[in-house]
Parts: sequence; C-alpha cells; structure tokens
Amino acid sequence: MKTSVSVIKADIGGCPGHSTCNQKLIDNAKKILKKSRVINDSYVTHCGDDLELIMTHGKGVNNKEIHKLAWNVFEGLTDKISKKEKYYGAGQDLLKSAFSGNVKGMGPGVAEMEFEERKSDPVLVFMADKTESGAWNLPLYKIFADPFNTAGLVIDPHMHDGFIFEVLDARTGKTVNLTSPEEIYDLLALIGSPSRYIIKAVYSKKKDIASVTSTQKLSQMAGRYVGKDDPVMVCRAQSGFPAVGEVLEPFAFPFLVSGWMRGSHNGPFTPVSQGNARCTRFDGPPRVIGVGFQVTNRKIIGHQDLFDDPAFDLARQKSGETADYMRRHGPFQPHRLPDDEMEYTTMPAVMKKLRGKFK
Ligand code: F6R
Ligand code: MG
Ligand code: MG
Repeated sequence: MKTSVSVIKADIGGCPGHSTCNQKLIDNAKKILKKSRVINDSYVTHCGDDLELIMTHGKGVNNKEIHKLAWNVFEGLTDKISKKEKYYGAGQDLLKSAFSGNVKGMGPGVAEMEFEERKSDPVLVFMADKTESGAWNLPLYKIFADPFNTAGLVIDPHMHDGFIFEVLDARTGKTVNLTSPEEIYDLLALIGSPSRYIIKAVYSKKKDIASVTSTQKLSQMAGRYVGKDDPVMVCRAQSGFPAVGEVLEPFAFPFLVSGWMRGSHNGPFTPVSQGNARCTRFDGPPRVIGVGFQVTNRKIIGHQDLFDDPAFDLARQKSGETADYMRRHGPFQPHRLPDDEMEYTTMPAVMKKLRGKFK
C-alpha cells in the first residue's frame, strides 16, 4: 500500500499587508479538509502570508482530485473571506480562473511524494515565506551530501553510498540528475546559483524518494511581479535517510537567501516557531518553519513545531545581527539584488528620464 504526502500552498491574501495569514483562513481550511473524503488526513498551518495544506492520501502525486480539493479551498476562501474582508492581495497566487486538472502552473506551490510506508516513517515539512525555491539548495546539499552536517553519510552503512539530486534549470525547464559523493563539484557548480538551478528532489541510490521541493517560478508564470515563490520542502528521515536532527542541522546557520522586501533583497533565512511565522521587519526577514510528524497508515501522527526550541535561539540571534548588517547597505547591492534578479525595478523609467543627460 502506497502513501502520498501532498503539500500545496498559496498566498490568498495577507492580513495586515503581506505579513501573515488570518486565523479565519486557517480555521476554515481545516474544516474543509477534515470533511473531505478524498484524503486520509490533513494538517493546516501558515508561514507568513502563505496558507499551507499538508495532506496524506493514497492517490499518488499530481492527482486531479487532490489538486482540485486544494484549489477549491484556495478559491472558496478567497471569495468567502479574503475578498470580503479585503485582505491584502486577496487571491494573489490564483493566477488562472478555471481549474484544469492540476494546480501546477496556476500559482499555488506544490511538493508531493509517494512511498511505501516503512516500519516507521518520520516526515518533516519545511515552509518558507519571502524567499525563492532555490533557498532549499544549501540545506539539501548539507543534509544529503555534507558529512560535516550529516554524520550518517560517514558512519551509517545504509547512507554511505550517497544520494541522487534532481536539479531543475528554471530557465529551460530541463532537469539533470547528479549523484553524491561522485559528482558534488558539478552539483555545487549548479546549485550555487539558486535563482536558476533548483533542487527539485533527492533520492537514495536505490531510487527511494527522500525529499521533494516546490519549484514554481511565480514571476515567470505570471509574466509580472507577483511575489517570490515562498517554497515548501518535504523530507523523509531516519533508517537510511538522515536523522531528524541531521535534517534540522543546516537551519542552525541563518544563511543568506534572496527575497525579503519586495522580493528584491538578500537577507538571513530565519528558523522560527509557528507562533512567530509572521513577517515583520522590512517585510521579513525571510522565514522558515518546520513541522515534523510520523506518517502511519496514511495518518499524520504527533505533529511537532520543530524550530520552537532554544537550540535555534543562536540562529535567531545571528539572524537579527545579519539583518542589521544587511539593512545598513540600504539600496546598495549586495543587500539589494542584482538588476536582473530583482522582481521589479524602476530602472527603465529612470534610464528613459536620464537618456538625454548622459554625455
Ligand atoms: C515580498 C512581498 C512584500 C511586498 C511589499 C510591497 O514578497 O510580498 O515585501 O513586495 O510589501 O507590496 P505592494 O507593492 O503590494 O505594496
Ligand atoms: Mg502576499
Ligand atoms: Mg508569502
């Protein structure tokens, strides 16, 4: 019997501004999913202004009924609540009006995996706000390829062979599989450019799914600025996969990601508790939450708020210091993104105005 985990998310309106998701949206989404007969179990949360639906079922990935259920939640709550209460950017991520079988390409972010449940299957879901899909590149590399992060790569015979990384070129839409440890330099050459090359999935050498991410590029889909992707990632842990603590370890360092204010600034990726998943300072800083649970007979058992822990206080402290340091650059790079990576710019208008003044 195979089990599927689908995480489908969308920003259907922030309150206030782009800071967070109103509790009414979360409560109503919970009610709808609890009543659904299409799925076996669900967990609803938010990260910043993104509403996150975690669902377990037996229908596989890219299933029409599952995608339709998520789309109906987003569309229904946009009409019933976000628009009525005039939340900011109501229905922001619903780029198309008619559902046609799959939410991919319609605005919401999707990360799904299907697997045969092991004797025990711990699953961790990470959800981010104010950053791009490539933000998972650094932690995924550390989790599955870096022995200084993951002790099991060296000392667990079941992990010693390494992993396979599936990398998407967001510009061409093509993917390439690279193995670790054999091809780590090639892998790093690509994923060190996270705005273009995005780790889409990780597999064991036996081809068991270990991790998946959402890899939508909203800006390319919409052809205009509609916010960063605010991606999600799902990881399986233990017994041949990295331990829960090895999956969490990279987040002890608040590395720089692009996004933050107006999707156009670099800032520290800050691990926070679900209670602190609100973007505040300069619309951020970019945040990540983690929820872990056991998947048991297609049910979600014992969910835990993984970053609600003093062990991550130092990362938060460092993030505050890094945010201060970066903010002091104001409109200068490298705080502000390079011109071609900014989500919107006044540059053409400024250049037009100054054209005659350039001598
Ligand atoms: C970033 C984001 C926000 C907005 C900013 C301006 O992804 O959503 O930082 O870009 O608040 O929003 P507008 O232009 O809607 O006032
Ligand atoms: Mg928003
Ligand atoms: Mg968002």
